[in-house]
Amino acid sequence: MSATAPEGPEIVVVPDPATLSRRAAELIARLIAAAVAGRGVAHVALTGGSTPAGVFDVLAAPPLRDAIPWAEVHLWWGDDRFVPRDDPRSNLWIADHHLFSGAGGGPGIPIPVDRVHPFPCSAALAAGLDPDACAAGYAAELRREVPTDGEGWPVFDLVLVGIGADGHLLSVFPGSAAFDSRAWALGVPVPMHIEPHVPRVTLNPAVVGASRAILAMVQGIDKAAIVATLFGPAERDPRRWPAQLALRPGATWILDEPAAADLPPGRRPDGH
Ligand code: 6PG
Repeated sequence: MSATAPEGPEIVVVPDPATLSRRAAELIARLIAAAVAGRGVAHVALTGGSTPAGVFDVLAAPPLRDAIPWAEVHLWWGDDRFVPRDDPRSNLWIADHHLFSGAGGGPGIPIPVDRVHPFPCSAALAAGLDPDACAAGYAAELRREVPTDGEGWPVFDLVLVGIGADGHLLSVFPGSAAFDSRAWALGVPVPMHIEPHVPRVTLNPAVVGASRAILAMVQGIDKAAIVATLFGPAERDPRRWPAQLALRPGATWILDEPAAADLPPGRRPDGH
C-alpha cells in the first residue's frame, strides 16, 4: 500500500521487517538504475542502526546483487559511530557483514573498493584525531566526488535514513549544532539519551533537502509514537524533530505495521 501527498513523501506500509527489507532493496535498485541511466553514476549514502542489515542482505543476494550496476555506484555513509571498523557498533561493520559479504558468507556485492567511501574513523582513531577531524577528511573526499546544488550542498542520488525514537535522523539529534553549520560533515558529541554512548560523525542535515531522493526505513512498535508525531499535528520544527527534514517530495517512507500503528488515518495509504 502506498500513498503520495503532492507536498510530502510517499508512505508505504508493509506487514513486517522482511517485507520492509525487500521493498526497500527493490526501491534502492530502481533509484540506482535511474541515476546511472540518467547521469552515468549513482551516489548513495547508507545509514546505520539495526534496520539496514536486512535491506543489505537482499541487495547482496540474487537477483538484485547481479542486477544493480555496482561499478557505477559510489557508496557513502550518512553518519557513523566514532569507533573502529571492526567494532560491531560501527555502521561500516554492518555493511562489511551484510553488504560486502553476503548472508551465509556469500561474496557480497561486486563494487570496486575505490567506490566505497566510509567515514575514516579507524584511521582517525589510529592517528589520535577527533570526530571533527574525521568528518573534515570525509567532507574533503565528498568534495572530490559529489556534485553540488546551487547552495553548495552535495547532491546525493539517494540518502537512506533510519529514524530514532527521539526524532533524529543521520546523527542529527534534536537541538543539534549541525543546524548552524555550513560544514558538509561534523563530529557529534556523545549522545547521552540514546545508545550507543559514543561520539558520532554525521553529514550536515542540509543534505536531506539537497538529495534527489530519500528513503526512510522505520520498523518496530517503539517507533509508533515518533511516526505519529511526525505525521500528525506537530508544528514544523526540524531542530526539534530532525526527521521532519525527510517529510518532503522525493522521499519514500517504508514503515512496517507496528511502526505505522498510530499513523493518523489520513496518512495511511489505505486511508484507515
Ligand atoms: C545510527 C543511525 C541512526 C539510525 C536510527 C534508527 O548511527 O544509529 O544512523 O540514525 O538510523 O537511530 O535506528 P534503527 O534502525 O536501529 O531503528
